[in-house]
Amino acid sequence: MKSSYILRNYGQLFKALVTVVEPGTCVEVGLLDGYSMLITGEVLRRAGKGHLYAYDLFEDYPYTHARKQDLQRKIDHFGLSGVVTLRQKDMVAAAADFADQSLSMIHIDISNTGAIVRQAVQAWDPKLRPGGLLIFEGGSPLRDKVGWMERFGKEPIFPEIHSNPCLNRDYTFIVLHPAPSLVICCKNLTAGEREWQELGYEALTRGNLHSEASDEDFLNDLFGR
Ligand SMILES: C[S@@+](CC[C@H](N)C(=O)[O-])C[C@H]1O[C@@H](n2cnc3c(N)ncnc32)[C@H](O)[C@@H]1O
Repeated sequence: MKSSYILRNYGQLFKALVTVVEPGTCVEVGLLDGYSMLITGEVLRRAGKGHLYAYDLFEDYPYTHARKQDLQRKIDHFGLSGVVTLRQKDMVAAAADFADQSLSMIHIDISNTGAIVRQAVQAWDPKLRPGGLLIFEGGSPLRDKVGWMERFGKEPIFPEIHSNPCLNRDYTFIVLHPAPSLVICCKNLTAGEREWQELGYEALTRGNLHSEASDEDFLNDLFGR
């Protein structure tokens, strides 16, 4: 398995993010060996709800790319065929497959650059529901200086994140700097009734703080002790 995310165990973070956001319909674009795809799919499988639509150009991408049959084999091997669907489409074209505000989480990882982030925000923002997550690999100023970015004169991501009108108006975001770095953008709310329910605030009004679990239960749940 090759993935820059393995460097700092970003898999743990993806697991936590998918869990917190509450699995609905999720999209990942850029799969390679399937590291983040398998983690997201496994969280959805265990939750018993949600679906991941996983996109790549596969053989149409001229550089290091995913192979569709290899990924399908992994999906089948880990019993994820009911929750992960592979599709071959370009990042921008794929957005047309979804209705507005229908997605809980969108993860873009296609050798990201500033230009790609700009195109992705334009294509995918309408598809994300309020409270949902738009996640980009990269984003740290140091990630903007890695060899291939400088060698091929690619547009840096960090300035795009901080100047993109849509991200700065409609999202709250954070850049995580450890390699390879990650930008996590949470779509701001519109204070609609639907959000009150979908984001779990209804439970707070019932005084239900979900504090019934024993100390052993929640440690077991998180760490398998
Ligand atoms: C950095 S890898 C993805 C890594 C993966 N998410 C992981 O967890 O390790 C980039 C992938 O993006 C795909 N790709 C590149 N450009 C694309 C595009 N415009 N649309 C869809 N996929 C693309 C490549 O084929 C490659 O498999």
